[in-house]
Amino acid sequence: MLIKNVHIQNESETKDVKIEDGKFVKIAPTIEASENEQVIDATDKLLLPPFVDPHVHLDATMTAGDPEWNQTGTLFDGIRIWSERKKTLTIDDVKTRAKQAIKTQVANGIQFVRSHVDVTDPNLTALKALIEVREEVKDQVELQLVAFPQEGILSFPNGKELMTEAADLGVDAIGGIPHFEFTREYAVESLNFLVKLAQQKNKLVDVHCDEIDDPQSRSLETLATLALETGMGDKVTASHTTAMGSYNDAYTYKLFRLLKMSHINFIANPLVNTNLGGRFDTYPKRRGMTRVKELKEAGINVAFGEDDIKDPWYPMGNGNMLDALHMGLHVGHLMGYDDIMNSYQLVTTNGAGAMHVSDHYGIEEGKPANCIIMNNDNFYNALNERSEILYSIHNGEVLVETTPKKVTNNFKG
Ligand code: FE2
Repeated sequence: MLIKNVHIQNESETKDVKIEDGKFVKIAPTIEASENEQVIDATDKLLLPPFVDPHVHLDATMTAGDPEWNQTGTLFDGIRIWSERKKTLTIDDVKTRAKQAIKTQVANGIQFVRSHVDVTDPNLTALKALIEVREEVKDQVELQLVAFPQEGILSFPNGKELMTEAADLGVDAIGGIPHFEFTREYAVESLNFLVKLAQQKNKLVDVHCDEIDDPQSRSLETLATLALETGMGDKVTASHTTAMGSYNDAYTYKLFRLLKMSHINFIANPLVNTNLGGRFDTYPKRRGMTRVKELKEAGINVAFGEDDIKDPWYPMGNGNMLDALHMGLHVGHLMGYDDIMNSYQLVTTNGAGAMHVSDHYGIEEGKPANCIIMNNDNFYNALNERSEILYSIHNGEVLVETTPKKVTNNFKG
């Protein structure tokens, strides 16, 4: 396959990209097509590495309104409603909904997904189902699973045993939810436990960390210290960290030194953070998102996730990272021209970094041919115009092909 005349990641000069045996084999200003080679004319089009959703909950997806809608919009009511829905889970139920969500994500150019899976369930039904899904979709989508203790590790019966069982069943990462544990002491103990478990079982770490508008919620400093002192470093991700949006500046200044030393990744979830955040405020009402701009400026890896697709925490969502990005740029005041132009990194390379897949991700000769072609010449235009994903190519095979819609506009202005 040969992609002709494409703008690679906003470059003004176009290049040709040759794909053979599932890999990018040559990237150069001009490459001649060989006989019978499939040629894609990508004149005035944009080539990006595929979108990454490094934080979603595929076990709960598509359950919004079942058994009830979350009318208060709080995280805690979401957990309560999910706890009821969880009792009725079956393997088929989870697999059907998860695949429905993945199909939507794929249509929107996503090829790499990290899903948290609730393991505060004595039967681990959702995890067993999603392990099957991970295997069944692996030729087209790289799916990572996180053992996520939705109702706590220390604060849920047999929480530690369930986490260990989940690790042995074959998750990719160990999760946590320190801000939901009964006490600060439980929060610290849960972090010590889960990092040790990850080390013992050779897993990554991705913790729902300080997802609360409480400036006293400071599990992040413990997680970052553990990442630093164990040497796990960039194998560790702190998701949400919304409390950082409420920390005072003196404490945050001190915290950033540790964050930089620790090399941990951050994932913000702009759609869901703004939905769940500020729910206990009257006015002024907080934005609910962590300090994305400051993390970026400090050279810390930060990515965006979608988090929820039509579930008890978020009644909307369609598997489109451009929605999460659009919201995140507004809420994070990332609205400089260069911020917007380069913002694709928040939903591509930075997410790949958090997922620890950078060794086989990116548009480089020798790497697997995973990419998307957007129907515009640069990302500023593509984001504003919500340009189509003309092609999503995975391991050199066309995974999705989109025909642009044709509009007849008779405006006479
Ligand atoms: Fe989440």
